[in-house]
Amino acid sequence: MSSSFLRLLQISLLTATAVLAAPASSPASVAQPSSTVLFASTDLNLPLWEPNSPPSVPQPIRGSLGASILGPTNTFMELENADLLAPPTTDSGSVGNAKWPFSFSKNRLQTGGWARQQNAQVMPIAKSRFLKLDRMIRSDRLSHNQDIAGVNMRLEAGAIRELHWHTTSEWAYVLKGTTQISAVDQDGKNFVANVKPGDLWFFPAGIPHSLQATNDTAEGSEFLLIFPDGNFDENDTLLLTDWLAHVPFEVIQKNFQVTDPKAFSHIPAEQLYIFPGNPPANADAPSDPQGTVPLPYAFSFSEIVPTQLGGGTVKIADSRTFKISTTVAVAEVTVEPGALRELHWHPTMDEWTFFLEGEGRVTIFAGQSTANTFNYQAGDIAYVPVSLGHYVENTGNTTLKYLEIFNSDLFQDVSLSQWLALTPPALVKAHLGLDDATIQELTKFKEKAIVVPPLNLTGA
Ligand SMILES: *[C@@H]1O[C@H](CO)[C@@H](O)[C@H](O)[C@H]1NC(C)=O
Ligand SMILES: *[C@@H]1O[C@H](CO)[C@@H](O)[C@H](O)[C@H]1NC(C)=O
Ligand SMILES: *[C@@H]1O[C@H](CO)[C@@H](O)[C@H](O)[C@H]1NC(C)=O
Ligand SMILES: *[C@@H]1O[C@H](CO)[C@@H](O)[C@H](O)[C@H]1NC(C)=O
Repeated sequence: MSSSFLRLLQISLLTATAVLAAPASSPASVAQPSSTVLFASTDLNLPLWEPNSPPSVPQPIRGSLGASILGPTNTFMELENADLLAPPTTDSGSVGNAKWPFSFSKNRLQTGGWARQQNAQVMPIAKSRFLKLDRMIRSDRLSHNQDIAGVNMRLEAGAIRELHWHTTSEWAYVLKGTTQISAVDQDGKNFVANVKPGDLWFFPAGIPHSLQATNDTAEGSEFLLIFPDGNFDENDTLLLTDWLAHVPFEVIQKNFQVTDPKAFSHIPAEQLYIFPGNPPANADAPSDPQGTVPLPYAFSFSEIVPTQLGGGTVKIADSRTFKISTTVAVAEVTVEPGALRELHWHPTMDEWTFFLEGEGRVTIFAGQSTANTFNYQAGDIAYVPVSLGHYVENTGNTTLKYLEIFNSDLFQDVSLSQWLALTPPALVKAHLGLDDATIQELTKFKEKAIVVPPLNLTGA
């Protein structure tokens, strides 16, 4: 069955149910709402087309609203952003742009690889310049730096991201291939490891490190880097060659106590950044009289068995398991076709979302009647400021896989369903006019669902 057919079926079933379920009169105990808002809307507001199964010409028309485009338009972009062109009728106001495809980032091409970044410069919402909300909910937290920037980096087999450090910590998720990481901490303890796809690394701020693709695969490696600072710029790193090119030669010689005056006469005049190299033979660190770092800088996240949920899976890595990772937490989530990462929010931190596979739809609710819906594809970044309500729906016909990343030591979320299931039922009824049967149905959410399956009304 095609997904559009399933969707039509779902529409007709849901419409029928909504009509049947509409109460003839509200229970007497419930404060009478305005008669016009028993339901905000029974319109399912489904996305009107998918990126890969387009109508011939996408049009900004939803029901009786809108009209065709007469002027020029970028059809390719319209197809990928159905809910911007024809927003659900529940959308209202503007939360700011919360979508950044890495395809929009200027790439830096080097011999041996490339790097492209997203930061607050290209996506202002990532720097909490969300003025109304700054005042509403961030005023007491502005001293905390809660923002995130991301870099997508590629190294050919053997290629090296030069020895460097930076003023923020660095967290990474390996997308393809194996990357060898090396670092030495403030106590002179060293660490070398090969990090595989789906695994993580983390270097605390100021800890010097380097990255090198192994030849485990002929292509080398690619990874996602996360920096817990929305203004981070990949150029802001402190590089080994750059430093030594700016130290008087005789100081270098004295510092390293080398006898050959020519020993350091080959320092590159310009930073290397990314450059080709021979693949590392193994992952052995030099013997270290201080020993190895107390908390490993790498984490075998790929070996964690995900928790199976009704409509997908989830697994989490934060400082409870990946102990050194005190400033970045992650949830790797899969959502099956038609399933939903439930309505929720994150009470303390912004969410930086990276879509790995599939297609999804997210509505961000920002209070004060403001809500916007965005469509995402693999390779896109979403950004949800702290505490704003949202969901992630799989709108494609393949598994949606994505990362929820936080500038935090802990993963935390608040589930709307769980909140309602654990609140005195009379209180919930008084707000939403729900009948007892529905209140009973909600009790299954006393345990957090995280991802709920597609609605199955055949047994109802
Ligand atoms: C999934 O979507 C793709 C692209 O639109 C389409 O080619 C394919 O037939 C769909 N598969 C199923 C099982 O519906
Ligand atoms: C980063 O630095 C390199 C080398 O100095 C330069 O070519 C590049 O334009 C810089 N990129 C940005 C975004 O400033
Ligand atoms: C990978 O690199 C190592 C070290 O340079 C080398 O010994 C090995 O033969 C290489 N393997 C392949 C498949 O190229
Ligand atoms: C939907 O529910 C019915 C009745 O409980 C069940 O028989 C059927 O297998 C379910 N369908 C799916 C796709 O889960």
